Amino acid sequence: MSLDVLIEELIAELASDLLDEYPRLSPDKASEIVESVVSRYKSRILRVLTGKRMGIEEFRRYSLYRFLKKEARRRAYYYLRKFKTSDLAGASGFIDSIISCMDKGDYECVRASAIELLKLHVSSSERIDYIDEFLGAVNKYTSGLLFSGKVLDIACGLNPLYPLLDPSRIRPELIIGIDKDRVVLGVIKALERIYDKLGIRIVLREADLLRYPDILRDYTGLDVALILKFLHYAERMRPGLGDRILSLVDAKYVVITEPTISLVKRRDISFREKRFIKSLIERSGMLENIVYSGIIGSEIVFIVEK
Ligand SMILES: C[S@@+](CC[C@H](N)C(=O)[O-])C[C@H]1O[C@@H](n2cnc3c(N)ncnc32)[C@H](O)[C@@H]1O
Repeated sequence: MSLDVLIEELIAELASDLLDEYPRLSPDKASEIVESVVSRYKSRILRVLTGKRMGIEEFRRYSLYRFLKKEARRRAYYYLRKFKTSDLAGASGFIDSIISCMDKGDYECVRASAIELLKLHVSSSERIDYIDEFLGAVNKYTSGLLFSGKVLDIACGLNPLYPLLDPSRIRPELIIGIDKDRVVLGVIKALERIYDKLGIRIVLREADLLRYPDILRDYTGLDVALILKFLHYAERMRPGLGDRILSLVDAKYVVITEPTISLVKRRDISFREKRFIKSLIERSGMLENIVYSGIIGSEIVFIVEK
């Protein structure tokens, strides 16, 4: 078999492996990823193949083959992750519309535009289908404080927009939103005037919580701390950080959620995530303080009283 034919076969086989592993990938993108991997490691491939009369079956036995497969999968994974990150390009139109709806006192219209805005962020868009159920349950198990008290939202994304879903009913006294994403915080900041009108004090802080978790000490005497879809990621990036964040939070109730479905592969990870949250709560000595645990929509939710 000529080298060119073998390389073509290799590309086709690795691309097909990617499509099996990541069904959401398009065939064109799979080929593009594999071709870039093969081109990057072409000299190593040639070193193995040159002078040997080898078919694809034999090449599969080489560690280089396994390496190429792994590398293609790695690149596909990061491509899909990136593809899923927030794109807030259309935010300004929805911000304007929320402002004009609020000026007319039309809360239904505020809600409709807020939903469109929330859809621009991956995390909040995943929650849209069950957002009312979610907020209702969290409010109930935090003694109504989610809708009326002082709320700290850790790695908040666009979640601090939740009062706009029902402005006549959801009026927390204070929302502190912390995130490292300046663009996301900018979207919320553009609506400060609306929060003013509703009598909600909003404080936004751009901070890297992986590096500086101790900034959480600045916020004391709170009612509810939301840690939505962040803690496991933080723990994975910096082992021990999950426990640290939990110990630093000074709030009557802490709400921890994790997704039940993995972002890229769309696999059911509910068992794993439930175990993670539970062991974290156990290590913090708060197992007895769980006031709610369950699945709402596609999130595992634990609420503990501190
Ligand atoms: C999966 S999203 C969850 C957003 C929000 N809590 C929600 O559930 O709608 C993770 C958020 O963590 C933020 N984030 C990631 N790394 C961070 C860090 N080191 N410090 C602060 N925020 C971070 C991201 O910008 C993103 O908004």
